[in-house]
Amino acid sequence: MSGPCERPLALRLREAVKDAHAEVQREPFLVRLFRSEISRASYGRYLSLLHPVYLELEAGLARHCGHPALSSLQVPWVWRQKRLEADLAHLHAVPAEPGSLGLSRRIAEVAHTAPHLLAAHFYVRYFGDLSGGQMLSDIVGPALGLTAEHGLSFYCFECPGSTDDAKASFKALINGLPLTDAEAQAILDEAAQAFRLHHEVFERLEVIG
Ligand code: HEM
Repeated sequence: MSGPCERPLALRLREAVKDAHAEVQREPFLVRLFRSEISRASYGRYLSLLHPVYLELEAGLARHCGHPALSSLQVPWVWRQKRLEADLAHLHAVPAEPGSLGLSRRIAEVAHTAPHLLAAHFYVRYFGDLSGGQMLSDIVGPALGLTAEHGLSFYCFECPGSTDDAKASFKALINGLPLTDAEAQAILDEAAQAFRLHHEVFERLEVIG
């Protein structure tokens, strides 16, 4: 277990991914997305590549709902898979195969071998969606003629309060996870690796447009 003097895990996660987060924001695809310089088809391909990530993450979280390090992270309103599918249908895009992406393969692997590491992927994806994702939604909606009901449901969270409240409550949950020091360190490493694995998503979008 983490000792009482241990710095909160959510804070350590933030520090662990700080540089990687700054780097991912420079991905050319994301830069163009934030400048409204992509087509609906390209946005559909982006969501298509995200689908296997959430498929594996949410299947893993559900499968391990009784795991001590994951039981407090069972928050159905945060799950994105069904919303992604609704948006993909609206955009006439199809989900990518789960085995076709290093990030989704990695999530499937840790779900089998070290389920507590799913907490790192929970952090990376959902905090991203609750942060930059909300900014992205404000830009993509008007640029591509999408609304919360039609094509943008991925960014809609039916959380009890604001998205900032949701992030604060998730941070409290993460800080309260019953982890050994080694497990906490492995989660920090896994979050950094998750950011690295995101590069493949954006590189593929650069290739296919
Ligand atoms: C251009 C793209 C992006 C922008 C503009 C952006 C913006 C932001 C902003 C404004 C925050 C809130 C920072 C704060 O609370 O002080 C944030 C947090 C976060 N973002 Fe992003 N983001 C982007 C891409 C991503 C991507 C692709 C991921 C995942 C791979 C991601 C993961 C995260 C995470 C995990 C946090 C939480 C940091 C914390 O612990 O407080 N972001 N982002």
